[in-house]
Amino acid sequence: MFASFKSIGSYIPEKKLTNFDLEKIVDTSDEWIKKRTGIKVRHIANHDQATSDLAYEAAKIAIKRANIDKNDIDAIILATISPDYLCMPSTACIVADKLGIKNIMAFDISAACSGFVYSLSIAKSFIESGLKKNVLVIGAEKLSAITNYKDRGTCVIFGDGAGAAVIGKTEDKNEAILDVMASSDGKYSDLLITPGGGSKYPASNETLKKEMHFMRMAGNETFKIAVKTLTEDVIEILRRNNLTSSDVDRFIPHQANYRIIEYVRNKLDFPKNKTVLTVAKYGNTSAASIPMAINDAYENNNLKYGDLMLLDTFGGGLTWGSALVRFALK
Ligand code: UT7
Repeated sequence: MFASFKSIGSYIPEKKLTNFDLEKIVDTSDEWIKKRTGIKVRHIANHDQATSDLAYEAAKIAIKRANIDKNDIDAIILATISPDYLCMPSTACIVADKLGIKNIMAFDISAACSGFVYSLSIAKSFIESGLKKNVLVIGAEKLSAITNYKDRGTCVIFGDGAGAAVIGKTEDKNEAILDVMASSDGKYSDLLITPGGGSKYPASNETLKKEMHFMRMAGNETFKIAVKTLTEDVIEILRRNNLTSSDVDRFIPHQANYRIIEYVRNKLDFPKNKTVLTVAKYGNTSAASIPMAINDAYENNNLKYGDLMLLDTFGGGLTWGSALVRFALK
């Protein structure tokens, strides 16, 4: 028995934040942002929308497309760095309640941009061990809530959104999640960090004054490690599955920066028409970026049943990972 990627859904908030809007807020330009990141627009949730609201909308679509009753879902794993509440309850529990699913395992995981791939790894194990039958995996972020719109090094990159998938079981290897790799190195934890509000620097007037509740990123250092790790990840997962780039139908990398994707794509010989690119229109949505990209490809008839997807991710922690997944939505 194999775990299988049965469906996909996403939610993109209506409100757009363009490069031209950002020009009015910080010292930046449309030209700089496009040239250095490839981003043109990102979407921003309303004030009254929390991460669970975005996740709920994406989840509803994924469940409908999976063609299962919501009560057949027996676990929810939600990856986010912008949960509704800092410590508890988990956003996954809130989403379960919004969906009207009772008495199931529901929890959040914190692996930054790699959260969706990490969640896939857990869901795969749950299904293959027989512990669970249908796992709802969600990547959802309201990054605008933790973005400092005075910091041009971060605010031009990040956006909001959510993506969700139902992971079920199959006997058919042509519908299987073939492999997931996930790893980390805490030595670089300072490169991407939201320092305030946790047990190290509990919320205080001082943490507020120092704006420690916002994300901070050493962009250029992160960039250099990202291109290296993303490339090595793909080489390793293809090697250990006896596959090559040409066996992959869709290369779906984390949408952090167009230049990072281009570097990795060229290094690994993925043609542009096999590479899913959404960074220009959504920006970097952290844990939501890969499922949003999968959904985008699906809705644009760029991904079909049986296609072999290669997911590749990298983010705060530092964390990274990759996955070889057959798309099993008919
Ligand atoms: O999602 C998880 C992981 N995150 C990533 O993978 C993101 C990785 N990093 C990046 O995408 C890029 O490093 C950034 C887009 C954040 C920055 O691009 P960069 O090419 O690495 O720029 P830089 O930080 O080296 O800065 C180059 C110059 C600097 O000016 P000087 O010192 O050369 O005069 C910056 O002050 O660009 C300046 N700069 C900007 N200028 C206009 C930095 N940000 C901006 C900006 N607008 N928004």
